Amino acid sequence: METVREKIARLKKEKNAIILAHNYTTAEVQDIADYVGDSLGLSIEASKTDADVIVFCGVTFMGESAKILSPGKTVLMPVPDALCDMASICSAESLAQCKAKHPGYTVVGYVNTTGETKTQMDVCCTSGNALKVVSSLGSDKVLFVPDRNLGAFIAERIPEKEMVLWDGCCPIHDSITREQILELKGMYPGSISMAHPECRKEVLDEVDFIGSTEAMLNECKKSDNSEFIVITEVGMKHRMEKECPGKIFHFPESAVCDSMKKITLELVASCLEDMTGEIVLDDDVIRDAYLPVKRMTEIR
Ligand code: 13P
Ligand code: SF4
Repeated sequence: METVREKIARLKKEKNAIILAHNYTTAEVQDIADYVGDSLGLSIEASKTDADVIVFCGVTFMGESAKILSPGKTVLMPVPDALCDMASICSAESLAQCKAKHPGYTVVGYVNTTGETKTQMDVCCTSGNALKVVSSLGSDKVLFVPDRNLGAFIAERIPEKEMVLWDGCCPIHDSITREQILELKGMYPGSISMAHPECRKEVLDEVDFIGSTEAMLNECKKSDNSEFIVITEVGMKHRMEKECPGKIFHFPESAVCDSMKKITLELVASCLEDMTGEIVLDDDVIRDAYLPVKRMTEIR
């Protein structure tokens, strides 16, 4: 009897498929993926693969970005309704209205948005390159959407730019408090602390390092320290433990992104077998979102 892992391996060969997984997916999903990474790394990987089929283990905006970058490929989501709460708060229509109120502003949009919303942006960014993207702009006036915490993090570091911020956030990162990080620091003295820039300023002000999921992993890898407090979604712990043997990681247990946890090996196997959960975007969405997303993958 074929195991689910064997079935996935067979189907991957038969369909010339690649499996991409975000750092927040479960350990079992990460372990069968061809590539595990942050939003930027996953987009870059999707843009350069020779596979015909991309199985995207992540939330829908990630699959949509892969489709925008590789419109000729079939992009399948094992859980088609794995939504990012942040991506749902900034529609293309409301962004168009906001742009009309801010003529002359360059629109920088976080990748955690729908494909349709991306059609309204000048350039897209991830938490991994947001500072570089905003710094690289010729314009001094920036409308940044939709994460107010990431926007404030950038504005503080590039004060010469006038930044207008959309009032959105990731409910998971935004609900982590200063008290939680102080409590973890009290429990694990000597740890190096780090946080994702989707966290509030009151949290970011308390940590030693701020970066995307991949940047935090790299920081742990190169550090001589053996203990770390990591303020982001708990799925990240698996890769950190796997790639930093002997090191210890402490996470806020409340930080769980339910959409990422819905993806199972059985769902990966069945979407590949039946070719279901395909990302379908209008041609004009792909055409208009391509440039902002492509620019994002080129600024590292
Ligand atoms: P990264 O780009 O750092 O992987 O973050 C994506 C995300 O959704 C964070 O909540
Ligand atoms: Fe979206 Fe937050 Fe989940 Fe990241 S952790 S995918 S921002 S809901």
